[in-house]
Amino acid sequence: MRAFAVIAHKFRGDINLNDLPGSGRVDVIARCINSAIFLSHDIRRDVLFYMFAPRVNFLLNIDSSRVKYLNPDERSTAALIRNAYINLGRREESSPGFFPKTASFDEFIAELDSRGTVYYLHEHGRDVRDTNFDDDAVFVLSDSVNLSDEEESRIRSVAEDTLSVGPRSILASHAITIVHNELDRRGL
Ligand SMILES: C[S@@+](CC[C@H](N)C(=O)[O-])C[C@H]1O[C@@H](n2cnc3c(N)ncnc32)[C@H](O)[C@@H]1O
Repeated sequence: MRAFAVIAHKFRGDINLNDLPGSGRVDVIARCINSAIFLSHDIRRDVLFYMFAPRVNFLLNIDSSRVKYLNPDERSTAALIRNAYINLGRREESSPGFFPKTASFDEFIAELDSRGTVYYLHEHGRDVRDTNFDDDAVFVLSDSVNLSDEEESRIRSVAEDTLSVGPRSILASHAITIVHNELDRRGL
């Protein structure tokens, strides 16, 4: 199992499918889901994806082994996120593989910690190529904005290490693709 967790700082809960960037940058999250779950003409069935939105204490867990109706385009992915948010507190599984719940930042971190060895992804971390991974690795990223100092220190408190996939600050979705590639090449 591989897990990716993205902190969606700008997400407020409202999603206009005709304006994804204006909907709390849900386009960024949809691209991260795409990178985490999709292969060419297939789906990775061993991925957990977490989206945590601190403004609304919203935690969405996507279990790729269960997903149906997920397509590679951002709009339909955003529609499933919207459906998950609408069903918060009503349905445990809003659509196959989508599990929305209310959570604080600390509850989010505790959930990640319970899933495996946590790594914080940052361009100034240790080179991912010098790291040996357990079977259950959990990678935490920020979205289009940096983590606050407080968020960063809370993540570092549970993280085994801070890892870099390269010297440049790249898009979160691209960092996810590189991590997958790194683990795929090792046969993990
Ligand atoms: C777009 S970046 C963060 C925001 C960016 N630093 C800014 O000033 O707007 C999104 C996330 O991707 C991850 N990331 C970006 N470049 C990385 C790298 N070279 N190595 C590891 N993670 C990286 C980090 O988790 C980062 O928070």
